[in-house]
Amino acid sequence: MALRSDLIYLDYNATTPVDPRVAEVIMHSLTFEFGNPSSTHAYGESASIALELARNQVASLIGASGSEILFTGSGSEADALAIRGTILAAKGAGLERPHVITQVTEHPAVLAACRELEELHGVTVTYLPVDEHGRVEPLQLERAITPETFLISIMHANNEIGTLQPIAQIAAIAKAHGVLLHCDAAQSIGKIPVNVDDLQVDLLTIVGHKIYAPKGIAALYVRNGIQLRPLVGGGGQEHGLRAGTENVVFALGFGKASELAGESLLDGETERLTALRDRLERLLREEMPDRVHFHGHPTERLPNTLNLHIAGVPALALLAAMSAIAASAGSACHAGRDEPSSVLIALGLSTVDALAAIRFSLGRWSTEDEIDQAVAHIVASVQVLDQEVTSLRTTQL
Ligand SMILES: Cc1ncc(COP(=O)(O)O)c(C=O)c1O
Repeated sequence: MALRSDLIYLDYNATTPVDPRVAEVIMHSLTFEFGNPSSTHAYGESASIALELARNQVASLIGASGSEILFTGSGSEADALAIRGTILAAKGAGLERPHVITQVTEHPAVLAACRELEELHGVTVTYLPVDEHGRVEPLQLERAITPETFLISIMHANNEIGTLQPIAQIAAIAKAHGVLLHCDAAQSIGKIPVNVDDLQVDLLTIVGHKIYAPKGIAALYVRNGIQLRPLVGGGGQEHGLRAGTENVVFALGFGKASELAGESLLDGETERLTALRDRLERLLREEMPDRVHFHGHPTERLPNTLNLHIAGVPALALLAAMSAIAASAGSACHAGRDEPSSVLIALGLSTVDALAAIRFSLGRWSTEDEIDQAVAHIVASVQVLDQEVTSLRTTQL
């Protein structure tokens, strides 16, 4: 395992280490599955069989069938394909001004796909607000539906705060109005059970590097019968919906990671992560009762994610001070940039509080001992920063 003993990894929402069992599958197939799945000889056939195995493994994690899984190179691509692909297909079929509904705390990949549709394709998009916990109000969503509404895109779990959206309720509304529902489940798969039939979604994004497979492989679940226009044309790969010779090796890695994720959920991974996250939350509250504030929904949330701010402590300063912990200020997409997270601003946080927000996200190798060490380290780092502020004020007097 590549995790360092001197650096506690609490950034599993940004990406996960590759599970050694996944790496083993990848290393083996890198040598033996070099064939092009489209070739008709035995090398090609072997690669094609391997690809279908991987497709079925990924499908089985979300209760889908292999024929409904389309491999992509990233979650961002899967989001773009779901949103642009369905809308452009609908336009091609004669729908003149399709309407899309999404919400303000979606991943930038979803928001960018929506903006592009608005700017280049005359599509109207409604961006729903969220409440102080980051949830969409289903009745408000229902009121936003017009006769032109063709697609709703709402994420399952938010990457920064972990808040879960009421997807099953939203799906019932979408169904009643004959509207397609895309759901970005990049952050929920592997952490809680995700089943396309329970959620009643039509399209679902899932991502390899959030479940211990490498970066550069993801998938879009597309319920049988839904029409998509490809973003990249050429060869007929992936049912003609994504041209390009398939990355069989990473697909196999994603397949193995999906199998392992399914097993670990059955083994109680959700409960284990919840207990660790609750321990982190409780200890921080005990240590800094008046200063620590948690963001996101108190119950409807991912088991592994804790987003918080410590009053008066800017996140980037705290991250720099606690050099033995790897965590994120806001989401990884905002990291290093001194601008507040739009997700936290959407929840109603002030700019100062949003700039103090840190996300701790736990995963497969997180332990109780690590949580205890992390808390001690956070508290000590806050004390150091407080002392620096005090001595600065004294020198200025
Ligand atoms: C909710 C969500 N959607 C989509 C993505 C994008 O995935 P990728 O990095 O593979 O493009 C991420 C990655 O952080 C995510 O958290």
